[in-house]
Amino acid sequence: MSKRSAANAAWGGRFAGGPSELLQRINVSLDFDKRLYTQDIAGSAAHCAMLVRQGIIAKEDGERIARGLAQIKEEIEAGAFPFKVEHEDIHLNIEARLAELVGPAAGRLHTARSRNDQVATDFRLWVRDAIDRLDRQMHALQAALLDRAEEHVATVMPGFTHSQPAQPVTFGHHLMAYAEMLGRDRGRFRDARVRLNESPLGAAALAGTAFPIDRADTAQALGFDRPMANSMDAVSDRDFALEFLAAAAICGTHLSRLAEEIVLWSGPNFGFIKLSDAFTTGSSIMPQKRNPDAAELVRGKAGGFIGDLVALLTVLKGLALTYAKDLQEDKRPVFATADNLELCLLATTGMVRDLAVDAAAMRRAAAAGFSTATDLADWLVRVLGMPFREAHHRSGALVRVAEQLGCDLASLPLAEMKKVEPRITKNVFEVLSVDRSVASRSSFGGTAPTEVKRAIAAARKRYMS
Ligand code: ARG
Repeated sequence: MSKRSAANAAWGGRFAGGPSELLQRINVSLDFDKRLYTQDIAGSAAHCAMLVRQGIIAKEDGERIARGLAQIKEEIEAGAFPFKVEHEDIHLNIEARLAELVGPAAGRLHTARSRNDQVATDFRLWVRDAIDRLDRQMHALQAALLDRAEEHVATVMPGFTHSQPAQPVTFGHHLMAYAEMLGRDRGRFRDARVRLNESPLGAAALAGTAFPIDRADTAQALGFDRPMANSMDAVSDRDFALEFLAAAAICGTHLSRLAEEIVLWSGPNFGFIKLSDAFTTGSSIMPQKRNPDAAELVRGKAGGFIGDLVALLTVLKGLALTYAKDLQEDKRPVFATADNLELCLLATTGMVRDLAVDAAAMRRAAAAGFSTATDLADWLVRVLGMPFREAHHRSGALVRVAEQLGCDLASLPLAEMKKVEPRITKNVFEVLSVDRSVASRSSFGGTAPTEVKRAIAAARKRYMS
């Protein structure tokens, strides 16, 4: 037999003994739900004020409760709150302390409320705050991307498909791709916030309450748009947490792609960028190394975001209405993802601002790999009126010749070109340089510096206000 303690003060009325030590250990959530304290106190204060306004509890009791809650907040913030695991979670800890501070009036706070609607309310408020915090950090990362893109509107680098040099692009254009991803990420969180912003408070255990409460009042006091329409849905729904985790998993996946590029670019095989000491570590055995640990961790942490989303989906799958203790497993994944995504956003912003560009290395790589072969084909179409498929074929043949001669397209002698296509003139060389290639791609959303400049200005208007 494991040890048993005294019956729980909050729900122990029909219990002769206390929970076994093992039950207590599996049941307790205080170590992680502590961080809901701000939201729990705000929710209780709003509930208490409403109970007074509706004449459900006496004004004097309401005042005592409100004062007690304010003191509890101070105690927690000062690190002086007597947290006790016997009280399971943050809600019961606060309630027990309130009883110590204000006496019997404390027992009236839980009128017309259950921990089921209480925790659902607290958690929504917490996720809402997290979304607002993350939005500021995503905004800061976009700002960093826009600034660096502006610096590099005309810095040519290879653009890749299949990990092979495809066509020259500019570094500014490449960075702006991520600014756009971040814009969609912010939109996803914003959309989730709109659906999240309804109040479960007053749903009570699951069926509503016989007390004449005013749910619209508490909803408004807590900044919600309206009370949730169905009390059973209100206590059991965790869509808001799923949407948060899904948006975070997508955002984290974007960050991991950029992180992977930072790892590649900063390595000796590319040598496109250099990270400062602020974002790299050395090796304890290989003195020459400068490891991009921050980028690798951003890349690796995406695994956790996806795991957290799958964890909560799996907790909810097949869970009958309404509340069950399974739902207590909703918090850890959300907290972990929120903390780590915040870190990833900060680290990525730091790296984007920190990285030093080796424009010459980028240019060399951009010119290699016959990256202007498409420009050559386009010239054959434009100037000689060739159908594109035939031009593609000719251009491919010219690449083969250049390969055999060991030179790039821009230095292929005209005489060699004429062997493949006698109508080619020296004017063709005008399109074979990487700068000409990049400058020519001025279609909307393309990589031409003029177009990237326009895209940056548009993004500043759209995302930075
Ligand atoms: N700690 C619990 C949770 O996070 C609070 C709700 C408990 N409700 C209950 N009926 N036991 O889910």
